[in-house]
Amino acid sequence: MAFENFVVVVEERIALVTINRPQALNALSRAVLEELDEALDQIESSSGVDAVILTGEGKAFVAGADIAEMRGMSAEEGRAFGVLGSRVFRRIERFRIPVIAAVNGFALGGGCELAMACDIRIASDKAKFGQPEVGLGIIPGFSGTQRLPRIVGASKAKELIFTGDMIKADEALAIGLVSKVVPPEELLPACRALAAKIGKNASGAVAYAKAAVNRGLETDIETGMELEQNLFGLCFASADQKEGMGAFIEKRPASFVGK
Ligand code: CAA
Repeated sequence: MAFENFVVVVEERIALVTINRPQALNALSRAVLEELDEALDQIESSSGVDAVILTGEGKAFVAGADIAEMRGMSAEEGRAFGVLGSRVFRRIERFRIPVIAAVNGFALGGGCELAMACDIRIASDKAKFGQPEVGLGIIPGFSGTQRLPRIVGASKAKELIFTGDMIKADEALAIGLVSKVVPPEELLPACRALAAKIGKNASGAVAYAKAAVNRGLETDIETGMELEQNLFGLCFASADQKEGMGAFIEKRPASFVGK
């Protein structure tokens, strides 16, 4: 399927999803969010993808929700827009396949929120992060008030959200907002190498691990441990557990089938 605001290329079992609206610094309009949802449908229905890399065309990853579109919104429309963005980002967070954000440039407002919904964030040293919404008379609306404190802690999250300050990639690394910073030309190769490394493992086990970490962060530790134990048990019903352990004992590389 062809998209107006996205380019989706699947190569070597990795889906590279590029947000392609550089004239507006990849700002998230309703149409862009709806297309992102459709791109996820397309990837989900294909069995040949182990990981997704999400990046932006041009000098921005995403410079936020579309301010021109939001300008005239009523309270009801604003709420509905927040629900739409949060729903699509939640889908990324719960996507069975790992999603890596390749943050190539500005990741502001909804752009920082989009990166935070991804499993792992790698940034170019040109990237800048921030939640500048209060300077526009609004608050983060695609779950930034919820994810940022969970990732960097309440004090730093409040500082960033209350001031609207932009931070560079090295500070984002220091506060744990990204896991690695690389020169721009190394960004996609680094993300591809990471995706390929993940793709060599048992995909069902990776999916269970993602669910256990994410859901565990949203609940008390006892419930999280119970979930982990259940998913751990389910692994033993898979062909890949037999293969992974058999390969270890037989001293040969594992050949996983994804079941
Ligand atoms: N929405 C709509 N258009 C945007 C945009 C946005 N978030 N960000 C940039 N653009 C547009 C600009 O209006 C400009 O369009 P024109 O050429 O038609 O004038 C074009 O993209 C290029 O932008 P600039 O000329 O501003 O580029 P710059 O390099 O001088 O500045 C920038 C870059 C600092 C990122 C600046 O564009 C900027 O501050 N953008 C807005 C950032 C922002 O406030 N984001 C938060 C939005 S609110 C939000 O996201 C709510 C939420 O949580 C859901």
